[in-house]
Amino acid sequence: MPYYRSVGSVPRKRHTVHRIEGSVAFEELMGIEGFSGTSALLYHRHSPSAITRIEPVEAAVPAFHDNMPLRPHHLRTQQLPTADDAVLGRQPLLGNNDVSISWVAASATSGLYRNATGDELVYVQSGSAVLESVFGRLPVRDGDYVVVPMSATHRWVATDRVELLVINARGHINVPSRYLNAAGQMLEGAPFSERDQRGPAGEPLIDEGEDVPVTVRTRGGLSVHVHATHPFDVVGWDGCLYPWAFNIADFEPIVGRIHQPPPVHQTFAGSGFVICSFVPRLFDTDPEAVKVPYHHANVDTDEVLFYSRGDFMSRAGSGIGVGSISVHPAGFVHGPQPGSFERSIDVDRTAETAVMLDAFSPLGLTDSALGISDADYPWSWARRP
Ligand SMILES: [Fe+2]
Repeated sequence: MPYYRSVGSVPRKRHTVHRIEGSVAFEELMGIEGFSGTSALLYHRHSPSAITRIEPVEAAVPAFHDNMPLRPHHLRTQQLPTADDAVLGRQPLLGNNDVSISWVAASATSGLYRNATGDELVYVQSGSAVLESVFGRLPVRDGDYVVVPMSATHRWVATDRVELLVINARGHINVPSRYLNAAGQMLEGAPFSERDQRGPAGEPLIDEGEDVPVTVRTRGGLSVHVHATHPFDVVGWDGCLYPWAFNIADFEPIVGRIHQPPPVHQTFAGSGFVICSFVPRLFDTDPEAVKVPYHHANVDTDEVLFYSRGDFMSRAGSGIGVGSISVHPAGFVHGPQPGSFERSIDVDRTAETAVMLDAFSPLGLTDSALGISDADYPWSWARRP
């Protein structure tokens, strides 16, 4: 997120004395790639390093089983139980060394949390919440993508029941570089712009407390660091690294006379994966155009599609519906269900909203994923509609 933002009270010059109610603030640089990448400067009332205890956490490390023997999957997230906590209640489903995908439905405020394994991209499938962090409050709602930077201390405050699809990168999640000019501004031809992106605004978020536990995720699992004072003590910050949100309905689809391939729908890029948004749009305009996607073999990628809302015409008869996840692995040719071309002839637009993740290394599946996998899905293309 390369756009400069400033919230609350910061000194005129960085690395200079900043007095808050008579005390000198503790300046923290939160930066990617050490001191060379995107960063923010935060001004704390108390030392962000002051911890009083470190506690282990008994938590199972998810095991991702090889997709063997190779099969396409339809995962029915609606069959997963509701959790209390939007962080600790997450059910890992798919993953490799670059990225993992989890699902959670929750209705209560999570504990404080920071993920030191990589950025999180949280897609809000339903409900609304406030992402509270050291950067302040960021209200989010259904259809929002929420980018939570690696190691940002935060919590999810659910204002009602929320369903979240959580993509956890090993590294960072960015806007595709081909959407940016040399100065980092979104290009005119990009399918969204800076106006569509929201960050924490308004007053800084100050909370009081002593001996405050924060759950920390690292590659080894979970730990708890008990902070001497509440981590939400930032009186001001500025920079280009902070949580931000973007609603999928603000993605402007690119359509053509004949079918446009999925890269025109790309929304985010990570190391080892890309994410695309499929939103309601006009179909191709040529009278001879085949409006449903052609069969395709993604020889280098495992393709995951989350069906968020609308009518998935090309998948009718497959069992796919709202809340479904399809997994079409490398080595398998996938395409529209039989009969979908005929159904599309008199239709001039699609009403579907879906999120796609293409992973460049094979994705494994957890026991949770296998438990909600539709046993009949692999044969769905062979059935008559
Ligand atoms: Fe596909």
